[in-house]
Amino acid sequence: MNNELKKLIGKLEADRKLSREEYLFLLNNRNPESTEYLFERARTIKHGIYDHDIYMRGLIEFTNYCKNDCYYCGIRKSSTGTDRYRLTKEQILECCATGYELGFRTFVLQGGEDPYYTDDRIVDIVHAIKENYPDCAITLSAGEKDRESYQAYFDAGAERYLLRHETANDEHYRKLHPEELTLSRRKQCLFDLKQIGYQVGCGFMVGSPYQTNECLVDDLLFINELQPQMVGIGPFIPHCDTPFAEQPAGTIELTLFLLGLIRLMIPNVLLPATTALGTIDPMGREQGVLAGANVVMPNLSPINVREKYMLYDNKICTGDEAAECRACIHGRMEEIGYNLIVSRGDCKQ
Ligand code: 5AD
Ligand code: FES
Repeated sequence: MNNELKKLIGKLEADRKLSREEYLFLLNNRNPESTEYLFERARTIKHGIYDHDIYMRGLIEFTNYCKNDCYYCGIRKSSTGTDRYRLTKEQILECCATGYELGFRTFVLQGGEDPYYTDDRIVDIVHAIKENYPDCAITLSAGEKDRESYQAYFDAGAERYLLRHETANDEHYRKLHPEELTLSRRKQCLFDLKQIGYQVGCGFMVGSPYQTNECLVDDLLFINELQPQMVGIGPFIPHCDTPFAEQPAGTIELTLFLLGLIRLMIPNVLLPATTALGTIDPMGREQGVLAGANVVMPNLSPINVREKYMLYDNKICTGDEAAECRACIHGRMEEIGYNLIVSRGDCKQ
């Protein structure tokens, strides 16, 4: 069995893709020995391209209003326990100022799908950040928009866009989202973003309700097709105020295994060790890096709104100042032999 698994991992490394059956075999039969082998290959590949450098992105959670009602998400429209907030342009610029001082050269503006932030407002914010911090990259993560909107943000200076596809399996997508949201539209957004010229990030939750290994294979095949520059994956974690409150969380073990596979599929991919990974295990982010991740995204949101951006229960770092998170992450990375880098952290060729 182990020989067969190792052969498939070797094949994935050589061809950067496997067939549906091969991916499924790997997922169904993985064991500690093949997993360790996968992580060792993933680290070797990562070190060849990025050495022991870990890139950091400052996450600014600019609004927790959302017009959507995804069943898994703590800031969904129907989540009545959520105290809603919006950051002004000035508040966002203050976050950038703090972040810049701390060595951040990428700002990620993430929020719910909030109609208050019209295209004009987003363009204005992007312009202002670019003007003040021309040496920084701006990543937007603001959901599904028309192609024209994406183009306008790009023209204003946003170069990267994160839009997790959440699941690439149609049937599974229907079980996680209300009817208005469709996988085909989601995918269209990602292809639009890519065509416009963004560095694009897709991604999914591991262990979301009703997910099977077949669903995960669909995710891997979709990633093969899209060839994104970034892939964000983290475990599903239930939120008490959602229809999935009683569902079990995803496991760190499967999340790490998928991080390793994705590193082999796209050697130069930017792969974050996510906050969700750090939430289900105190050493989750370190383990993520050791499985192939090379990005961390400490929180730069103002301290008084942190608790309000609760996508899932028990989210870490909600009480920590940006400087504390920066120092904490720095220490954690050094501890495992990696260096936290002051740079835009672009995807290397
Ligand atoms: N558990 C883990 N991740 C979640 N997200 C939303 N809700 C949850 C949850 N309950 C993720 C989604 C989204 C990203 C911003 O956060 O994948 O794209
Ligand atoms: Fe925020 Fe450790 S990263 S406190």
